[in-house]
Amino acid sequence: MKNKNNHVWFRSMASEEEELWRERLVEWSLDRLVFLQSNRSYFVHVYAISLAKAQSLKRKWGGTCRAIKPYETSPEIELNLFGKFKVQSREILRPDPKVLWVPAEMAFGTGDHPTTAMILRQMIREKGWEKSEVLDIGCGSGILALMARKLGCQNVFGFDNDPACVRISKTNEERNFERPAIVWKEGTLGKIKFRKTHDYVLANLYSGLLQDYAKEFKGLLKPRGKMICSGILRIDLPPTIQAFKIAGLQVKQIQTKGKWSMLVLQK
Ligand SMILES: C[S@@+](CC[C@H](N)C(=O)[O-])C[C@H]1O[C@@H](n2cnc3c(N)ncnc32)[C@H](O)[C@@H]1O
Repeated sequence: MKNKNNHVWFRSMASEEEELWRERLVEWSLDRLVFLQSNRSYFVHVYAISLAKAQSLKRKWGGTCRAIKPYETSPEIELNLFGKFKVQSREILRPDPKVLWVPAEMAFGTGDHPTTAMILRQMIREKGWEKSEVLDIGCGSGILALMARKLGCQNVFGFDNDPACVRISKTNEERNFERPAIVWKEGTLGKIKFRKTHDYVLANLYSGLLQDYAKEFKGLLKPRGKMICSGILRIDLPPTIQAFKIAGLQVKQIQTKGKWSMLVLQK
């Protein structure tokens, strides 16, 4: 059955008005209420609600309502990872080692997109996270870096060229762990520099980017290090594999779900 909670209402607000809007919208649970800064403007959102509720908020408070883009969120997401971990959009009251809470927000990566889900599942299958150094390229909501931390990894670095994603990733780490440990940075692939190499590189990016930076990815890996990447349309799989082979990476696994593919590569 189609979920009817597929709208968002939002409006601009003054930077100091967050508490006021929390009061005004107190009936909405924390996983639906989102405050974001974009350039110099501040916005309050209520995510994953019905069109009727979004319109009634608009009548009462002005602002805008619209349908949520497919990648933006899925209301009430719950992704079960082999019974070992769960990724959910519903709020958790305190950090839980087996649950990753990623609420509906304006950053890609709630676990419902097949590209994210394929990488998450592969991460559960991989071993040795406790001793690994991990790099999450294009962290979005931070979901992959956060899962690496849930799996015991103590050295995680995540970056994204969208500053909103970096902010949301930090908030998601606070939602899921008592103390921050992941290094988050705003940065663009190709421009951001690294002083060390990694056991795992995670990248859910468009295949054009994966192809263009295949050689750089190899340079980011330790010997025998692995890259788990997705965001590859099935049709783009052959040129993407070719680019990785030319760069000197071995293709260890290919998985496909619908029109999307995931690759596991090794140096
Ligand atoms: C498909 S989303 C993946 C988000 C999350 N890692 C996941 O797997 O669900 C791709 C992310 O990469 C970021 N991105 C795209 N191009 C980038 C680039 N050249 N450098 C850094 N980040 C980039 C986008 O802002 C977006 O957050």
